[in-house]
Amino acid sequence: MDKLKKIKLEKALTFLEPGPLLLVTTFDGKKNNVMTISWSMPMDFAGHFALCTGPWNYSFGALNKTKECVLCVPGADLLKTAVQIGMVSGEDTDKFKKFHLAAFPAACVKAPLLGGCVACVECTVERYLQAYGIFVLQAVQAWQNMSCADPRLVHAVGDGTFRADGEKFNFRRLMKAKLPPGL
Ligand SMILES: Cc1cc2nc3c(=O)[nH]c(=O)nc-3n(C[C@H](O)[C@H](O)[C@H](O)COP(=O)(O)O)c2cc1C
Repeated sequence: MDKLKKIKLEKALTFLEPGPLLLVTTFDGKKNNVMTISWSMPMDFAGHFALCTGPWNYSFGALNKTKECVLCVPGADLLKTAVQIGMVSGEDTDKFKKFHLAAFPAACVKAPLLGGCVACVECTVERYLQAYGIFVLQAVQAWQNMSCADPRLVHAVGDGTFRADGEKFNFRRLMKAKLPPGL
């Protein structure tokens, strides 16, 4: 018999937090910017991703205006920097300068690839679902960094703590019928 305890509704998300933690770059026509996002979700096998954010962030303006961004996936070695990035705004801070971030040109969008990340996914914005603060993105180009320092992905628990990827379980054979070509 499970020993179940009722918990506050606010705590529910600490069990459901998706991941991994992302650094989302934008270019508003004048300067590069980057924000930290823990609320994102793959929506299908066709490269649609959901990103939860809103007008209280400076990046929101660039996302709306340019309809472009790059989802950069930091490894565990970049976790502290990722948190610091999420604590200041591009409105008054050049985060690339402040955190000594490297920016590389992307292939299909004007927002940059972020140096040192495990992977970067260039995206265009398909729509913004205002009622829920959800951007629906379409991936247009993806990159994997084969030489990053620590490829473990990090996951926000939602309460200021984080987990890094640990043990890996391989159920590829069992899931074969559900896996699309290329995965
Ligand atoms: C660990 C962490 C996770 C965050 N996740 C989100 C998120 O999912 N959505 C969001 O809108 N803001 C999130 N934030 C807050 C933004 O990253 C933060 O407001 C950032 O300063 C916005 O930058 P900008 O004003 O330059 O766009 C997070 C911050 C941290 C530190």
